[in-house]
Amino acid sequence: REIYYEESVDSTQKIAHRLAYEGAVEGTIVVSEEQRMGRGRLGRAWFSPIYTGIWVSIILKPEIAPQQAPQLTLLAAVSVVRGIQKATGIRCDIKWPNDILINGKKVVGILTELVAESDRINAVIVGIGMNVNQEREHFPEDLQAIATSLAIEGGHKWNRAAILQAVLKEMEDLYFDYLKNGFQVVKLLWESYAVSIGKQIKARTLTNSITGKALGITDEGVLLLEDEKGTVHRIYSADIEINE
Ligand code: BTN
Repeated sequence: REIYYEESVDSTQKIAHRLAYEGAVEGTIVVSEEQRMGRGRLGRAWFSPIYTGIWVSIILKPEIAPQQAPQLTLLAAVSVVRGIQKATGIRCDIKWPNDILINGKKVVGILTELVAESDRINAVIVGIGMNVNQEREHFPEDLQAIATSLAIEGGHKWNRAAILQAVLKEMEDLYFDYLKNGFQVVKLLWESYAVSIGKQIKARTLTNSITGKALGITDEGVLLLEDEKGTVHRIYSADIEINE
């Protein structure tokens, strides 16, 4: 297994993609103190200032079908919540599919990308961005209302290496269990941390928006949303607003 530790990069995702293309072994990790062009979901930027967060990409090579890939996003989210809880005692919630929240504010984002050839997955690159030691005023104004950090929530700074280690340990354990026994354990754990299930939500996809009740997730990790007419929609990718 290999760990690439960098001071400053465009994006650890970009480097991990290149390493995966060049045949990197499973478990290869890219971590950087800063990202100049951190990438978020849905083409957004991810604010990644130096020495404050954990900006990491992990290369996995599971033998799964492309439609199972969302399972790994959920696996990563569960690992992050459990790792944070072990290292800091702070309890986070998961908002489908992969936002990690404390008191309704985002503390961690996860971006899962596939490296696929025709119908085969060569690698899955799991990118995790954790806000650890930022103060409130470190965040750009537009983020202050919606983002937080473990330091803001916990009242003091944290050892980032210890948190990363705890998250990676959880992920390794859960991933080996997943490869051996399948998705059920991850699914149950995920549901126990999820805040959106059973609630009225609005799902904004790239093309439209659907309001209804979040019923749960399928065995592939797809969100089931029941609208007022009782039609159940399968949501693969969206922004979720919880209306309580
Ligand atoms: C999101 O939009 O919620 C996902 C954010 C993912 C950010 C992480 S930071 C490490 C990795 N490298 C990137 O450029 N993005 C991911």
